[in-house]
This record gives sequence, structure tokens and C-alpha cells, in this order.
Amino acid sequence: MKRLFVTLALLLAVLPADAFALVPGRERISLNGPWNYIVDPMNTGIYKYQMQLQKPHKRYFADRHFYQDKTTLIEYDFDKAPTLSVPGDWNTQLERLYFYEGSVWYRRTLDFHPQPGKRWFLYFGAVNYQCVVGLNNTILGTHKGGFTPFWFEVTDVLEEGENSLVVWVDNTRGASEVPTLNFDWWNYGGITRDVLLVCVPEVYIQDYRLRFDGSEVAVDVVLDGGSGSVSLEIPELHIRKKACAGKDGVAHFRFRASPERWSPDTPRLYDISIQCGADAITDRVGFRTVRVEGERILLNDQPVFLRGVAVHDETIGPNPGRCRDTEDARALLEAARDLGCNFLRLAHYPHSEQMVRLAEEMGFLLWEEIPCYWNIDWSSEETYANAEKQLTELIGRDANRAATIIWSVANETPPTKERLSFLGKLIAKARELDPTRLVSAAVQKEKPDLYHPVIDDELIALTDLISFNQYLGWYDGRPADCDSVCWFVPSGKPVIISEFGGGALYGNHGSEAERFTEEYLELLYRKNLPMLEKIPALSGLCPWCLKDFRSPKRPLAGIQDDFNRKGLIDEQGRRKKAFYVMQEYYHAVEKNWIWR
Ligand code: GCU
Repeated sequence: MKRLFVTLALLLAVLPADAFALVPGRERISLNGPWNYIVDPMNTGIYKYQMQLQKPHKRYFADRHFYQDKTTLIEYDFDKAPTLSVPGDWNTQLERLYFYEGSVWYRRTLDFHPQPGKRWFLYFGAVNYQCVVGLNNTILGTHKGGFTPFWFEVTDVLEEGENSLVVWVDNTRGASEVPTLNFDWWNYGGITRDVLLVCVPEVYIQDYRLRFDGSEVAVDVVLDGGSGSVSLEIPELHIRKKACAGKDGVAHFRFRASPERWSPDTPRLYDISIQCGADAITDRVGFRTVRVEGERILLNDQPVFLRGVAVHDETIGPNPGRCRDTEDARALLEAARDLGCNFLRLAHYPHSEQMVRLAEEMGFLLWEEIPCYWNIDWSSEETYANAEKQLTELIGRDANRAATIIWSVANETPPTKERLSFLGKLIAKARELDPTRLVSAAVQKEKPDLYHPVIDDELIALTDLISFNQYLGWYDGRPADCDSVCWFVPSGKPVIISEFGGGALYGNHGSEAERFTEEYLELLYRKNLPMLEKIPALSGLCPWCLKDFRSPKRPLAGIQDDFNRKGLIDEQGRRKKAFYVMQEYYHAVEKNWIWR
């Protein structure tokens, strides 16, 4: 696959632009809906029989739709091909693609009428895992990483009338990819998030970054295509400012303000609008500060206890798949709300922008993560570049979100020196891109000592928090063992339990000693909570996890059936007994958490 990707990358016509402010409040055309598709496990749409590249008119980017002469031998036809819904994973749309990992071609046509003085960008919310995008048989570009947005300028490629948009998507896993070959979630493939055609004027607002230090607001506005005067307004704060973008195309705003602070209890958002010439964007932003002071996380200068839960980007329902829209996200957030949460770990990869924005509106603090998960290829420069790019795209997309307080660069990774240098660079990159948030990683205890577990991963010296996953009562020992466990966790930083829990099948009742019964899981939570509370710097908990989720690593028939059963609710949203243990506990914490 790597050879294919490199070869096609060489055919690139257009380089992706860094325009994170591309979407909010802009004129756009949705390209969601049914797309024709062709499953192509042998990559016939690219390669000839001896793996030479197909001639351009034979590649599927050419789209025979435009070949009227019936004399040319063309052996594919998108017009006659079935359709898949976009956004959406292919695995849960078609039984025959349930386990499918490989290449799928997507095609849709679009009618277009150019407008003078306008520029057009093709925006993808996410495509898993790698893709090559073609428009009218011009290869626009490639993207790798299944969970972050990307776009291409298509102003000069779009034609009057009918246009053909063809996307080659491949979710094949790879040893040097991010994530790598082995992970405990379903490898959903496809164009999994929105596809938009976005219209901007010649000179447009490419990006803006807002920062607030408790008294001063800083806003940097990046223009593309020229410079000029930029105006900024936050009407409810009576803020109306003008600034000039310099030769670098950046306009800097600095002003004092005392907005109502954003917090889980008061998720106050303000309308902001930025204008430059014929261009304007609008957004909703919150103002809050977050920092660490000793063993406390301070939100708006007050210690906060993170009543969290971990969640995958997967819908609730009889046939769960990748979340497609705000309503899918809302269902998960409402379940977390009912659990009594003020914090979510969006595991193990960037979730959708809809999820992040709705969580912000509903008042959830967020941990966002990139999938450096388990054992990736730590010595590969390319793997590092891939991970850093995913981090950069995530931070670029969500840096203006008040809800996001933690960037996490890894989950359960081996304590090798290659790993430490790899993640050390990533952590430094996160701080460079965004010095205003906390940086962490989920580590785990190394030594098998059941009753005296120690957290001593060198990585925690580089992070702002000590966050670790532990499975006392499930992978380690029995629930009752928790009574005799004393954790050794270095002092001086806030501690977050980024995962704990066990499995149970909803409705499977029996003895507390029997694995996968609701009673076993209920007891496991009853025993874990007091054990964890003994950790002096405890500042947050994240049960693993909110909902049973699909995983090809969970084949136990009659119990798991391709689901990881560690949810507090099952895949259909039905609450297990353990849900109520956590809910009761969080209600108590909310009322009277005593800081030691
Ligand atoms: C790990 C991992 C999760 C996984 C969980 C489990 O800790 O981080 O992704 O699903 O354990 O085993 O259920």
C-alpha cells in the first residue's frame, strides 16, 4: 500500500491548505448523501496486472461516466454501481463489508456553476484510514489518518456543469501506521464524516486562534490571498475592534475583557464574528482558564474533580457504527450526563467536530487524543511525521474550544527509549502548537505486583498529569483484592485514572464471582472506587467505558459477539447495575468532594 500511496502522491496537482477556519459560518454545499462505490481489494483501479500503474484514462479517477465511446474496454462503471451513505462507515452499512479491510472507491457527481471572484475548497471531516481524492480525473491530493479533517482548493479544477469527484479509500492496517496493526476497536472504513464544498472570496480568513489568560484576550487572525483590515466583534461583551494584517497575513488583536467564564456548570458561549473585506466567519467561543497547581487541576482558578467516562466514537443502537452527525453525538453525551459526568475522555483518536462542539455547549470538559496506541513503530521517521500531523490537525481544529483541556499523545505504550524520545517530541510539539492546555498520555503500571502496584513510567516526567489505566478486579486479581491494594503513585502532579472497569453482558445475572455477570461488574466498581480514592492526588476518574463497543478482539460467543462489554451501558443504551454505582458515586462527588 505504501508504494501506491507514494506513487500517487507524486501525481499531486494541489497541496492541501492549512485553513482551519474554513467551515464555521461559511457558504457551503453539502456533498453528503449516497455515493456510488466499487470495492477493489486488488486495487485494479490503480494497478495493471503486473502492478504497473494504470494509464490515467484507465484509472477509476477517470470515471467512465465520461466515456461515451463503447469501443474502449472499460471494466467498471460507477453509474451502475450501488451506493453507500456518506458520512458513514461501510462495515455497518453492508453485511458483506462487515469485516472488510482494503480499498473502496467512492464517486459522486456534482453540478457546478463558477462565480467570479470566488474560491472553492473541498473539505472532508474524516476518511479512514488513507485516501486519494480526484476531481475530474485531476488528483487533488492524499490524506492519511482516519480521524482529522483535510481539504483541497479546487477553484481551478471545478468545471461548469457536471463534475466527477472520486475518492479512493483504504483502511488497511499497517505496522508503521498510526494506529498500528493491533487495536481494540472496530476498524471502520469509509468517508466517515461530512464532505463539503466551501466557498470563500479571493482574500479569506484562513484561521483564527483565540486565547484567554483570565484578563486579556488574544486573537490572531490569519488571512490567505492577501492582507487588509480585519474587524472583530463579540457583541455581548461590547467588543468591536479593528486591526491590520501585516505582510505575513496575520492580524493581532489584544484587549482586556471580563466575560462570564465557561465551566461545566455554566457552559457560557459568546458569538464572535471576524470580517475582512468580502469575507466573514462567525463562531461561538467560551472563555476559561485551565492550569495545574501542584496536585490540583485548576479550572478558572478553582480546583476541579473530573467526573469522567471514556467513550468511543460509535453510535448507540441495534447496529452501532461510526457517529455521523450531532444527533449521534447527543445520544452519547446525554448518557454521560445521566451518569453525572462533567468530563469525557474521547478515546483513542480525534472524535468528530460535532461531538466536541456539542460537548462544549452541554458543559463537558474534554480529553482529546491521537491514536499512538499500544506498540507503534517508534523508530520510524515516517510514523513520527504521521503522528505529528494528526496531532497538528487535531489541535488546529479544536484549539478554540473551551471544553478541551487536555491533549493526550498516547495510550498504554511500552517504556522503551525509542518510545520516550518519540512521545517526548510529540509532547513538545503539542506545547508549541498550544501552550494553553494540559498535555498527557495514558500509562500503566509495569510490574505485576498485585497489592503494591507502582506507577513509575518515565513518560510522566514529561506530562502535566499522571494518568494511568488500571484493571484491578478484571485483568488483575478479583474485585475483593482491591481492599488490600495500595497504589504507589509519584506525588506532585494531579492524578487521573484514565481507564478502569471490567466486562458484563447486560441482563446477564448471576453470582458476584462469575465473570461477565452484572453482579461481578457492580462489585468491581464498588471495590475500585474506595481503592482509588486513597490515591492522595486523585483529581479525576474515567471508567472504561461508557458503552459496549465493537471490537474484532472480542469474539466470545453469547457474551461478547464482537463487542467489548466494558460499557456501563450496552450498545443499545441499556444501563447495567454498575452504571448506577458510578452515578451514585458521581452525585456524591459533585456534592462534597473533599480535597486532601
Ligand atoms: C486497554 C485499552 C482499551 C481497551 C481496554 C480493554 O486498556 O486502552 O483500548 O479497550 O484496555 O481491554 O477493554
